[in-house]
Order: sequence, then C-alpha cells, then structure tokens
Amino acid sequence: MRRKLVAGNWKMNGSLGLVEAFCSRFQGSKLNVDVVIIPPYLYVPELISKKPEAFGVGVQNLSEKLAGAYTGEVSLVMAEEMRVGFSLFGHSERRQAFFETDQLVSEKVQLAIKSSNVTPILCVGETLEERESGQEFLVIERQIKAVLDCVSVEDLDSLIIAYEPVWAIGTGKTATPDQAQEIHAFIRELVLSYSVTAADDMRILYGGSVNSLIAKELFSCADIDGALVGGASLKVDEFYKICELAG
Ligand code: PGA
Repeated sequence: MRRKLVAGNWKMNGSLGLVEAFCSRFQGSKLNVDVVIIPPYLYVPELISKKPEAFGVGVQNLSEKLAGAYTGEVSLVMAEEMRVGFSLFGHSERRQAFFETDQLVSEKVQLAIKSSNVTPILCVGETLEERESGQEFLVIERQIKAVLDCVSVEDLDSLIIAYEPVWAIGTGKTATPDQAQEIHAFIRELVLSYSVTAADDMRILYGGSVNSLIAKELFSCADIDGALVGGASLKVDEFYKICELAG
C-alpha cells in the first residue's frame, strides 16, 4: 500500500509570516499522510528549524553540478547539509522559463537519486498544444525515459514522479480524475517495463490546480498517490484540508 504524499510548492511566493503560519497549523497534527513544504531556498533554514514533525521540507530545484563557479545555483550537497528531504526536478516552469531540457533534468535526477537524504520528485507533463495534437503519451514517455534510461533499477525506489499537465498549472482547470488516472496508469506501466517492484511502490503525484473541492476524487483514483499543489499551498487552511483528504 503506497502512503499518500501531499507536497506544497510555494514557487517564488511566501514570507516568514507564511513559514510561521504553517509551523503553527501543523503543530501536533496527526495526519495519516506524508506532507512536504517546498518554499523558496531562503526560507528553508527557518522552516526546518521551526517545523513540527508533521511535514518535511523540500526545494524547488538543484544544480547538476556539485560545486564551483556557478553563480545563482544551489547544490545537492548543500541541500543535504541543510537536512532538506526532497527536491523537485523538471517542473514545467523550469523547463519553459529556464530552458531546462530533458537531458539536463535527467542529469540532475541522476545525481539526486544517489542521495540518501534528498528524494527527487521528477515533474513531467504535456502542454495544451501537445494534448490537442494527441502527443501527451509520447511527451510523457520521452520525459520519463530520459531519466529512467540513465539510472539503475535499484535506485528507482527513491524516485517520485509528479504528473503535471502544463495546461492545468495555475489555470484553475484541473484535469478530470479520469484524465489524470489515464496518464498515471500509463506512467506506472512505463515504470513496470524497468522494474516490477518500483512500479508497485512508486508514488505518482498529480499536480495542476489541485484544491480541496477536487482532491478527494483525485485521491480515490487507483494510481494517484498524492498531489503537488501550487496556488492552494499558499493558503494554510486550504492546504491542510487537502492533506486531510489524502489521509
Ligand atoms: P497549481 O501549481 O496548483 O497552482 O496549478 C501546481 C504546480 O505548478 O506545482
């Protein structure tokens, strides 16, 4: 039985006030679900030092380089030292606004998947144009194979995949549970061609305008193991409700 995971991606939003609000809302909470808060880097130390046990902390991206003259970048080693538990990789905003290619995303995940502290969350998803031209399965297969072809099967148990259709991100237009389940089942089938155990155990999250009205139905789908939440993760009570619905 896969334990559900709800991750809140603050993107370039948030404040010390929001850090405080999350820490106090989750204090003493006994949710039956894994929760990860993913703030901008600068808030990570504050969140980690004040957070209750109820949630872990992640970052939104890490470099494929270990250290050196790479202005503006943050390395896996630093994330490990700061006790960060998760990192997103290949979010569609990184792919689109920062020109991250499948190859680069793959290099980043190859590094992180070896870490015993930082669990990589690989984000994949098609654009509206790709869906409308019937390319969604091809695109997702390409994005996932770029990573799975380059990592060893034994490492796959520490990978999480997030399916985030680009047309559903920040648009208020959630994929229907059927649309999401169809792609999640396809992803699990793809993972199965690498490893039966990994396919059984891997958590596949759905992301794209998730809110508390739709969450329960999404979480009831056979292959949806949680959510990657953007906008709604900035509202403490709304996010908490989504976590409760997963538990
Ligand atoms: P959204 O963002 O929930 O605001 O659509 C999801 C994401 O980009 O991770």
